[in-house]
Amino acid sequence: MAGKVIVITGASDGIGRAAARELSGKGHQVVVVGRSPTKTAAVADELHTDHLLADFSELSSVRALAADLSIRYPHIDVLANNAGGIFGKQRTLTADGHEMTLQVNYLAPFLLTNLLLPVLTASGGTVINTSSRASRMFSRFRIEDLDAAERYRPREAYGNAKLAQILFTRELDRRYAGDGVTSTAFHPGVIASGFSSEAGSGMGLIYRSRLANMFLKSTEDGADTLVFLADGTPGSDYPTGEYFTNRLPDKTHALADDAGLAEELWGRSAAMVGLT
Ligand SMILES: NC(=O)c1ccc[n+]([C@@H]2O[C@H](COP(=O)([O-])OP(=O)(O)OC[C@H]3O[C@@H](n4cnc5c(N)ncnc54)[C@H](OP(=O)(O)O)[C@@H]3O)[C@@H](O)[C@H]2O)c1
Repeated sequence: MAGKVIVITGASDGIGRAAARELSGKGHQVVVVGRSPTKTAAVADELHTDHLLADFSELSSVRALAADLSIRYPHIDVLANNAGGIFGKQRTLTADGHEMTLQVNYLAPFLLTNLLLPVLTASGGTVINTSSRASRMFSRFRIEDLDAAERYRPREAYGNAKLAQILFTRELDRRYAGDGVTSTAFHPGVIASGFSSEAGSGMGLIYRSRLANMFLKSTEDGADTLVFLADGTPGSDYPTGEYFTNRLPDKTHALADDAGLAEELWGRSAAMVGLT
């Protein structure tokens, strides 16, 4: 169905920018959300569309974004929570006191989605979360230590945040599908992008090396499943509450099937971001 209103975070670069271009080309109204003012405006100018700025390392910025979106867009068909990456060789805390990788990848989109629920419910909208296979490979998820105060490893923090996103996807779908709001998550593949440029380790260099470009896929490839999910009809073109790779439901970490854990995570996350 063409003509949807599709909000994409992390649309100033990489996979989000490629998805914004493709979906705009299909006739959808894409709202470009980014952090960098110049990069975000450049993408919006190219697509002749609107843009908004937010820094997910500050929850006040996420609240302002949600308020702005709600006023400007009383109808939103798709919210694509795509902004993210690995942040910090050492454990870094955000202005809100949370571990940075957890907040940018998971807590901020959790808050944004919750604040947009009235609009999404009124619109029969769907939420697409850019997760990662790292959720299966690297996570050592401990619900008691979401902010990694007891143990911090950059890759683990990233894997934990991406697993939290899948648990959130499933819980959101369980809670709100009856009200018309569905949710999916996906792994984009291993993609040559700006990914992990702020990781503070060698990983960012690997992603942008000449060698990497020979083995990694393009941002257009990385956007393919996001475009498929955003362009399609949830529940009829594909099942919701699922995690996808290459447009198909994929295996997750065993903990992603734990509905009790997902419910507990929702409660803890709500308290962490100040939702009552
Ligand atoms: N590349 C891969 O191999 C890969 C694999 C699995 C999953 N992913 C996931 O795919 C998503 C997109 O990543 P990418 O590969 O396209 O990386 P990218 O090129 O580095 O793009 C990251 C995007 O996230 C935004 N962002 C970063 N920190 C932010 C913050 N604090 N507040 C708001 N926005 C912020 C960036 O905004 P600015 O540019 O405006 O600063 C940019 O638009 C991420 O969630 C990533 O974890 C990537």
